[in-house]
Amino acid sequence: MQLREYIEMEQTFGAHNYKPLDVVLSRGQGVWVWDIDGNRYLDCLSAYSAVNQGHCHPRIMKAAMDQLQKLTLTSRAFRNDQLGLFYKELCQLTHSHKVLPMNSGAEAVETAVKTVRKWGYRVKGVPEYQAEIIVCANNFHGRTITIVGFSTDESSRSGFGPFTPGFKIVPFGDAKALEEAITPHTVAFLVEPIQGEAGVIVPPAGYLKAARAICDRHKVVLILDEIQTGLGRTGKLLAEEHEGIEADLTLIG
Ligand SMILES: Cc1ncc(COP(=O)(O)O)c(C=O)c1O
Repeated sequence: MQLREYIEMEQTFGAHNYKPLDVVLSRGQGVWVWDIDGNRYLDCLSAYSAVNQGHCHPRIMKAAMDQLQKLTLTSRAFRNDQLGLFYKELCQLTHSHKVLPMNSGAEAVETAVKTVRKWGYRVKGVPEYQAEIIVCANNFHGRTITIVGFSTDESSRSGFGPFTPGFKIVPFGDAKALEEAITPHTVAFLVEPIQGEAGVIVPPAGYLKAARAICDRHKVVLILDEIQTGLGRTGKLLAEEHEGIEADLTLIG
């Protein structure tokens, strides 16, 4: 098939929710990808960091193949001989005491929102259904209804309301604004250590450290969305390490 035919087929049968470049890739190895005409490209995007390990990494392929030949899926109705090992390794790697795997970043954010709300009602003593979560202007945390509801990007929200209540928006990088926005009903502050989709915005030095101290002072959960910055993408395993702090909930992907 020719380039145009691939593109037309996508346009005809798929929802128009993205606008990709008109290159049709068919193969990858390490940092390189090839299109259907055999042209080679350096993959500087790496699927927005999801493939930082490179395409077709031999150790990952071998682990996947080994498992696919042994057992496909157990669901959570049964235990299996891999889940505990995975949990333990991830806890040790990230110095966490518990982990919860998800299928996508947006689901991780949604689950964090549920967790801190319930914590707010059960532990902090926030009156039922009055929990507030503080987020930052120009955030990007995913595309579910709840998440786009607290986005400040009109193109992400427009046409999708009504939205989930309970979110307050403060400027990114402004610790004073964060502290002023906190009320007795605030359960969490959700923030990207470096804003990703906003254009790779690094906050002023000391911002995360200040946010950590403010959250401690007001008994507010600090949720760091490290879905773009985590797993070594800023030179440390987690971006929080640049400021020597630890989040209460860390989202990685
Ligand atoms: C910081 C951040 N949080 C959350 C998400 C949502 O992740 P997903 O697309 O896997 O739902 C993204 C996606 O790019 C992201 O950059």
